[in-house]
Amino acid sequence: MPSSHPILCGSIAGRPGRFGVAMHNAAYRAMGLDFAYVAFGTEDTGGAVAAMRALGIRGLGVTMPHKQRIMAYLDRIDETAWAIGAVNTVVNDDGVLTGHNVDWIGAVRAFREKMDLAGKVAAVVGAGGGARAIIYGLNEAGVRVSVFNRSIDNGRALAKSMGAVFGGPPEALEAAGPFDLIAHATPVGFGDDTGCLIPEAALTRGVVVFDAVPVPVETELLRTAAARGCVAIPGVRMQLQQAAYQFRLYTGREPDLAVLEAALSTAMAAG
Ligand SMILES: NC(=O)c1ccc[n+]([C@@H]2O[C@H](COP(=O)([O-])OP(=O)(O)OC[C@H]3O[C@@H](n4cnc5c(N)ncnc54)[C@H](OP(=O)(O)O)[C@@H]3O)[C@@H](O)[C@H]2O)c1
Repeated sequence: MPSSHPILCGSIAGRPGRFGVAMHNAAYRAMGLDFAYVAFGTEDTGGAVAAMRALGIRGLGVTMPHKQRIMAYLDRIDETAWAIGAVNTVVNDDGVLTGHNVDWIGAVRAFREKMDLAGKVAAVVGAGGGARAIIYGLNEAGVRVSVFNRSIDNGRALAKSMGAVFGGPPEALEAAGPFDLIAHATPVGFGDDTGCLIPEAALTRGVVVFDAVPVPVETELLRTAAARGCVAIPGVRMQLQQAAYQFRLYTGREPDLAVLEAALSTAMAAG
């Protein structure tokens, strides 16, 4: 069996980020685990999976553009990843590679930091992979979901396949409400983009507003939501909760969330 010292975990992405590296390595150090975590930037999905097998890499987080196409290279796909149609975590058990999707767990845990979910109503904006994972999680948590999306056909298809209602384009969100939770899951607002798809009037006091966009931490949506008295949840909370879950899958140990949080804050401050 291929192996390494320390045991290697990591992530593959077209554009590798720093947050996973900071969080996982800090938790390994805090717990005295003989593990190391590296973020790989690659477009070569098949090559990355072959490397995982050849080098005995224990676990890999998977982001764009690999989430769907990696499925063809794995030995097993768990039920949830099939249902969501994407893999964001691969675990290597003695050479058997299993694909999981824990995006939904990260999202639901991030929501539960601020609200009880059962019996609530939510609006999800977007119809891509992120929206699909969030809706899966909300379904599991007993939340009724309405989907809003720019392209009517994509929005309708996603809503139908997930047992949700299609509410129309994002501009229709205010008239369709009120909602307990509004979850935004499109790339609008990412990086230098200062756009915001959610009508301001839908952001009423007390509504929980989540933006899946991880960078910047405070998007225009979250700034506006906070200014209007909403409860704002940044996308990095989803990343943090996902990292905690992945850590458990790779090491079998529960990380201290405070250690992950401190490492994430330091990494974010470093830019
Ligand atoms: N925090 C986390 O852990 C996490 C995890 C997963 C994803 N995300 C984030 O979630 C967001 C979506 O990711 P994804 O993987 O779902 O992306 P995706 O699959 O590319 O989804 C694209 C969706 O966004 C819509 N969209 C794109 N540009 C738009 C625009 N200018 N105006 C209106 N709608 C637009 C698309 O609408 P059409 O159908 O009309 O094309 C589609 O519904 C990204 O910001 C990503 O970083 C975060």
